Amino acid sequence: MPAKVAYSGREVTVMNDIIELLEEHRSVRAYEDRDVSDEMLDAIVRAAWRAPSSYNAQEVSVVVVRDPERRRRIAEIAGGQPWIAQAPVFFAVVIDYHKTAVGVGMAEGEQRIHRELEGVIMGAVDAGIALEALMVAARGLGLAIVPIGGIRRDPQAMIDLLELPPLTFPVVGLCVGHAAVVNPLKPRMALPSFRHEEVYRAERIPAAIEAYDREIVAHWRRVGRPGGEAWSRNMAAYLGAGEPRPVGEALRRQGFLA
Ligand SMILES: Cc1cc2nc3c(=O)[nH]c(=O)nc-3n(C[C@H](O)[C@H](O)[C@H](O)COP(=O)(O)O)c2cc1C
Repeated sequence: MPAKVAYSGREVTVMNDIIELLEEHRSVRAYEDRDVSDEMLDAIVRAAWRAPSSYNAQEVSVVVVRDPERRRRIAEIAGGQPWIAQAPVFFAVVIDYHKTAVGVGMAEGEQRIHRELEGVIMGAVDAGIALEALMVAARGLGLAIVPIGGIRRDPQAMIDLLELPPLTFPVVGLCVGHAAVVNPLKPRMALPSFRHEEVYRAERIPAAIEAYDREIVAHWRRVGRPGGEAWSRNMAAYLGAGEPRPVGEALRRQGFLA
């Protein structure tokens, strides 16, 4: 791959750097007691602000939380995740059909998309794209990150804390700061279980999972978590039946799917 690429009439930095950065992704859960500069923070936010969105709806907003007391509260809401209180910056990525409803109203229309599952999927996809832009920009500046879906353990508490208006929903968060401890890369399931050529190859999956179960248990042992479970057992616990998840109810209270 070329070291420099022409883009929009300019020569820009190597694409390889971006790919390397992505291949080096890891979540960091230990942060130094050191702030992120305003300049870095602005650059990270602008990167996500430029992200594409479905129909150019721009139905995503980001709430930047730096206040230690508010971060401490978010750490609690997310089920006790101390790295949220530790990292100096927390981004709450919000599906935002409030903004679009104002625009639709100005055009004398009636917004309906937030009532449909399609609206939730569209918002979640675009929020995910913004999340990735935040992560890539932060890491490009030498910072560390961990995404936080744990805020959806109690979406209503997040809505109250961030004073989110109706038709908005805090879908995911992100901690950003200077890494205190950088973990080894977490292995992934074999690439052929992810990459399918032309058609999906379901027959590959069981063997890939068996191999991955062994690999992840070995990884837990290497990183000092000897009791770490196989992936399939973790998924049975996380994705199976358990406590009912409060997301549907909170979405409806915010005016979604109603
Ligand atoms: C949308 C999303 C939500 C996540 N939520 C949390 C979370 O609440 N707490 C946490 O510690 N990690 C969270 N993670 C991080 C995952 O656990 C992590 O990405 C996964 O275990 C793979 O490890 P790695 O990121 O180090 O490669 C989340 C990741 C994503 C993409």
